[in-house]
Amino acid sequence: MVKICCIGAGYVGGPTMAVIAFKCPSIEVAVVDISVPRITAWNSDKLPIYEPGLDEVVKKCRGKNLFFCNELEKHVAVADIVFVSVNTPTKSSGLGAGKAADLTYWESAARMIADVSKSSKIVVEKSTVPVKTAEAIEKILTHNSKGIEFQVLSNPEFLAEGTAITDLVNPDRVLIGGREETPGGLKAIQTLKDVYAHWVPQERIICTNLWSAELSKLAANAFLAQRISSVNSISALCEATGANVYQVSSAVGKDSRIGSKFLDASVGFGGSCFQKDILNLVYICECNGLPEVANYWKQVIKINDYQKSRFVSRLVSSMFNTVSGKKIGILGFSFKKDTGDTRETPATDVCRGLLSDKAQLIIYDPQVPEAQMIKDLSTPKFDWDQPGSTIHIAEDVVKQSVKVVHDAYEATKDAHAIWLGDLVVMGTKRAFEEDLQEFIKHPKHLDYGNKAASVAETKLPLETVQLVGIAGENGISVPDMVVKELEVNAPLPLVTGMDTS
Ligand code: NAI
Repeated sequence: MVKICCIGAGYVGGPTMAVIAFKCPSIEVAVVDISVPRITAWNSDKLPIYEPGLDEVVKKCRGKNLFFCNELEKHVAVADIVFVSVNTPTKSSGLGAGKAADLTYWESAARMIADVSKSSKIVVEKSTVPVKTAEAIEKILTHNSKGIEFQVLSNPEFLAEGTAITDLVNPDRVLIGGREETPGGLKAIQTLKDVYAHWVPQERIICTNLWSAELSKLAANAFLAQRISSVNSISALCEATGANVYQVSSAVGKDSRIGSKFLDASVGFGGSCFQKDILNLVYICECNGLPEVANYWKQVIKINDYQKSRFVSRLVSSMFNTVSGKKIGILGFSFKKDTGDTRETPATDVCRGLLSDKAQLIIYDPQVPEAQMIKDLSTPKFDWDQPGSTIHIAEDVVKQSVKVVHDAYEATKDAHAIWLGDLVVMGTKRAFEEDLQEFIKHPKHLDYGNKAASVAETKLPLETVQLVGIAGENGISVPDMVVKELEVNAPLPLVTGMDTS
């Protein structure tokens, strides 16, 4: 029986290993982590992360060929393949602060593998790492290796949170990079290929050299984020000229060479990967003496920051230039629907902006615990472009001005404005438009039903609301036509947060 061990039981390690165990009953998979609460949660009924379909997959395999535990060394020692899926956040101090990937966790995992191994192993980079990391990892592993052979492979993960299980079960491609030039490298590539071949068609398993695989992951994320920043830059121009960004992006996306995905204007992208990976790419370019290329990619992040602050300005200015003491209901805090992950969520920047203007926030997000929201809002925000400078809202101010509620209706009760965040819009713009049409027909009840899964059964008292700003990773603004109808039918004046009229 092939034995797999994965170091890091996070958003990537957990779901990826669960799907491998599910699809390969003949393989034993152990997922290990230094965090005791995380492993305890993986072994409980309430998994530490929310992903549609994850519960079912874990329940089917846990205790059979899928195990979660804290005994790192024991499982690494006996594994044939060791995946490393630890976090690689942006460095906040030292050389490359604000941009470079912090490889501390990776290095300590590699050193532990070298220390405890008694047999040859394939070590797989699952984390997103800077190009050429495999070379450093090889050095760590072979130094003091006691004659054991280590093959390092790069197998970056392309799953998106919120759709992790479907992405893993039906991936566009699986990328395996290795030392193609050596027999040992080729054999290792084939071994990992055989694991994926249990369910992924051969033509979707792409084998490359190590550096291409490492760089492809950074490049793919940079391209995706670039599309969002590109359309967001156009949304600003639309507002200045009277063009409608939905009409423009839909016309642009109809071009088959461009395609329609990742072209919806929004309050900006979020999540743990896009910003981190692009900044990592920027740093690699700078280190390779390519400042023009670095500046090109930096601009993608700058537009993202600009879009978030522009959104706050629009909200404030459309509420008569003051939100002081006004209640703003916020539906959705995580960075998109179907996840509880709040890393780099645009909601923190929007909320911080509103809190600086003394607004009262009432937040509802069924997947995010209250303590997490308070922590996110009161943790100083590190400025990537000016390391050392931070934006900070004191915890007592956050606690006084933010109320976290457990039902969407409560969040919108007596609100002067509602911000419909990530829960609603992501990928469901059309459904949302239909909802608004429904509201026009039956003004008292805007029932999201399961279209906006997490806000099911919500009845928004929109008649009390002055402003509706709709924002999400992939969508912002109410279509003009709907706004016009709402203006006619809504009892109070209605202004969109970032409309295109
Ligand atoms: P995460 O923070 O959710 O999980 C990382 C886990 O590694 C944590 O539970 C931590 O306790 C554990 N860990 C850290 N050092 C350790 C060590 N020395 N030994 C054992 N466990 C250790 O991070 P996430 O989101 O799973 O990301 C992991 C990597 O995958 C990152 O490089 C990320 O860029 C990449 N990635 C993330 C995606 C996402 O959507 N979150 C998608 C694709 C790639």
